[in-house]
Amino acid sequence: MALFRAQAVVHPLTRWCLCLAMVTAAGACRSEGKPESPRAEAPRAPAEAAAPEEPADLHGTGGVEGVDAAYDQSRQPARFIAALGIGPGQRIADVGAGQGYFTQRLADAVGPTGRVVATDINDEAIRRLRVRVLARRNVEVRKVEPDAPGLEAGAYDLILLSEVDHFFSDRVDYLTRLRAALTPQGRIAVTHLRAMRPPLVAAAQAAGYTVVAEVNDLPDHYLLFLRPSARP
Ligand SMILES: C[S@@+](CC[C@H](N)C(=O)[O-])C[C@H]1O[C@@H](n2cnc3c(N)ncnc32)[C@H](O)[C@@H]1O
Repeated sequence: MALFRAQAVVHPLTRWCLCLAMVTAAGACRSEGKPESPRAEAPRAPAEAAAPEEPADLHGTGGVEGVDAAYDQSRQPARFIAALGIGPGQRIADVGAGQGYFTQRLADAVGPTGRVVATDINDEAIRRLRVRVLARRNVEVRKVEPDAPGLEAGAYDLILLSEVDHFFSDRVDYLTRLRAALTPQGRIAVTHLRAMRPPLVAAAQAAGYTVVAEVNDLPDHYLLFLRPSARP
């Protein structure tokens, strides 16, 4: 029953993201072999047939909350943001924010004294997200290059990687680069479909991080927190 529920709510937007990633980030996917593909573990849901078309230049950029109830049911945005344990005044990086599925809730969580920097490499996603957050003074939308996080050193209490790590050409290298952007107590939160957890954890360990906490009650996604490992 639980398995059926988990399979049934996996949304086509998520599958499109992953499908695109399999093409655009083919090097990474190929090098990590078939278990990398969540498609193998996530059969087509009936909702897929009714999914709306999206512009080609938005493929792989995620969704927007409130557009599709099944997708929101899968991602559980309120529960997800609560699980991040964000406090007012914190500085958050939403890396690979896409169309900003979590960006506005992150901005609400940090409040007017906090700040959210939402990054992406996709021009159309950036353009749309900028329009969406225009009235929010605590959000900056930032275009970045694929292999450079584009984040200031020592500045972020939390860096969120939501359904983005499969795009990185080299996860270990990217995670290694991210470390400089963390504050001394800073954390990296990573979430993705459960099938995508093993390569992320392996890369995080290779990049010198420890999994310090994990949330297991989201329908389809894992959520874990990384901190730089203590040096011997
Ligand atoms: C599947 S979407 C996820 C969007 C959003 N984070 C979410 O959870 O719905 C992945 C996004 O990551 C972006 N992306 C891919 N590689 C990136 C990189 N190296 N740096 C920043 N963003 C990247 C893509 O353009 C896309 O918008």
